[in-house]
Amino acid sequence: MRKVHFVLSALILAAVVLQFYLAGVGVFSMPEDELFGLHTATGRFVLPVLLLLNIAASALARGRTLRYALGLVGLLALQTVIFVIAIVTTGSNPFEDVVITTAGTVILSFHVLNGLVILGVTVLLVRKTYPLAFPRRAAAESETPESVQAAAP
Ligand code: HEM
Repeated sequence: MRKVHFVLSALILAAVVLQFYLAGVGVFSMPEDELFGLHTATGRFVLPVLLLLNIAASALARGRTLRYALGLVGLLALQTVIFVIAIVTTGSNPFEDVVITTAGTVILSFHVLNGLVILGVTVLLVRKTYPLAFPRRAAAESETPESVQAAAP
């Protein structure tokens, strides 16, 4: 199960990096092509499914990674909450062709910063799950020439 947990964590990392790329695809394309839909679909469907499977894997792996797995769900939900706050307080809706006010821009752009936080937590999760899945390989890799020398009699 610890290997499954690692594979899921690596898939989440790949999906988060893909989200940044797909945001670029949305920005650098014609609005009428509606390519931002790829980013929205990955954020609404692919990531939630991976994150929920990862919670189950984390609980079964029993490697003290549950706070990361649960935290990522909260952070992904925050991506939507940021939009809701902007829409409710300023009327700026990134899903519709409406005027985005300055206050709306300030609030909506936290979506990008929170995306960076999601990326950081996902990297931490992968770094936690790797030694759980491959303890011998991780131990061998952490042995630097200096640490081997220091351990020598
Ligand atoms: C440069 C970074 C990013 C930009 C510029 C960006 C921008 C956007 C925009 C404009 C939308 C609305 C798309 C539409 O009109 O259909 C959106 C939706 C969404 N984004 Fe991002 N995003 C970024 C990074 C991320 C990251 C890293 C994640 C998650 C890991 C993420 C998760 C989501 C989700 C879940 C939605 C759908 C929200 C909902 O419908 O409730 N975004 N993003």
